[in-house]
Amino acid sequence: MAHILVAGGAGYIGSHTVRALVRAGYQVTVLDNLVHGHSGAVVDKGVSLIVEDMGDIAAMTRLFADNSYDAVINFAGYINVGESVGNPLKYYQNNVGNAVQFLMAMQEAGVDKLVFSSTCATYGVIDQLPITEDESQAPINAYGQSKLMYEHILDDCDTAWGLKSVCLRYFNACGASEDALIGEDHSPETHLIPLVLQAAKGIRESIIVYGTDYATADGTCIRDYIHVNDLADAHVKAVQRLLGGGDSLKCNVGTGNGFSVNEIIESAKKITGSEIKVEYGARREGDPPELVADPTVAHNELQWSPTCSDIDNVIRSAWKWMQNNDGHYPRERPSHHRAHGGIFS
Ligand SMILES: NC(=O)c1ccc[n+]([C@@H]2O[C@H](COP(=O)([O-])OP(=O)(O)OC[C@H]3O[C@@H](n4cnc5c(N)ncnc54)[C@H](O)[C@@H]3O)[C@@H](O)[C@H]2O)c1
Repeated sequence: MAHILVAGGAGYIGSHTVRALVRAGYQVTVLDNLVHGHSGAVVDKGVSLIVEDMGDIAAMTRLFADNSYDAVINFAGYINVGESVGNPLKYYQNNVGNAVQFLMAMQEAGVDKLVFSSTCATYGVIDQLPITEDESQAPINAYGQSKLMYEHILDDCDTAWGLKSVCLRYFNACGASEDALIGEDHSPETHLIPLVLQAAKGIRESIIVYGTDYATADGTCIRDYIHVNDLADAHVKAVQRLLGGGDSLKCNVGTGNGFSVNEIIESAKKITGSEIKVEYGARREGDPPELVADPTVAHNELQWSPTCSDIDNVIRSAWKWMQNNDGHYPRERPSHHRAHGGIFS
């Protein structure tokens, strides 16, 4: 049974991917410093959670010496675009600096297969829709820049020591597991669907729509929403490609369909049966009007297609999660479990 190390596996997308890997028959170990992750998100028996920072080179050297890993998936990083504009060094330090330390430990241990969480934010301002991988990459914020830098670093490592990587450029991750055991619990939450559902549940008073004068059918921004379980499945297929001796790859992971902010709100009203108070504000700096993936490369190279990203299905699953403890994990396990260096399964 191949053993997969999942860095950032106690976070939103990572935790769903861990479950998909376990279902696919892999042995899985999670590495997470729990700065934004949740020990309660690691739910499968037999999956160990190692609480360390990927930038701690001594700890990472020990980690790779103690276990043998056939491949690594790296979700670990900071994700808040707005914060990255005000505090770019925080993003470069973690998403590039710490992630490079992690790669050094991988190299030293001879682990040469990596799936990496990249993003459509690496494209910046788009020339043409839907977005193909040939679109020029010119990020407009430090978050997107940090992800693009890492893509380039992975290319150089491929040339230098044969690291094979799959960079998955996600569009908007959303939804939750069908059993509502795990879901999206970011703090602060900046993503549209949980914010809309918080408004539906009365946890927040209203949802603010930024910009109603875009050149889209209803004037609000359009995004490509991909169910987190479809994303998880793309990771399983990327791991299979690498374990099968496949070459490095960069590909979009989206549905190819766009939904406007207003359409998301309408779907949320229908699914929840709740009134949702909407306030309309001005455009936000740096929000492109429309981001929609062309997922052809993922279809052809990974034999991947989304199966559960129907927008009503996405919102139904996210709503079920929101009904459960307001979309938050219960308070974490006792603090001695969370001390750095802690391992529990
Ligand atoms: N959520 C989205 O829509 C989206 C879209 C595009 C790309 N991504 C990328 O996908 C990845 C996962 O996103 P998410 O939404 O699950 O975020 P998340 O914050 O829920 O998960 C990231 C995890 O990484 C951990 N982490 C951060 N720095 C670490 C470090 N130095 N060492 C060890 N662990 C560390 C955090 O504790 C957290 O559990 C991120 O890299 C993000 O940039 C997310």
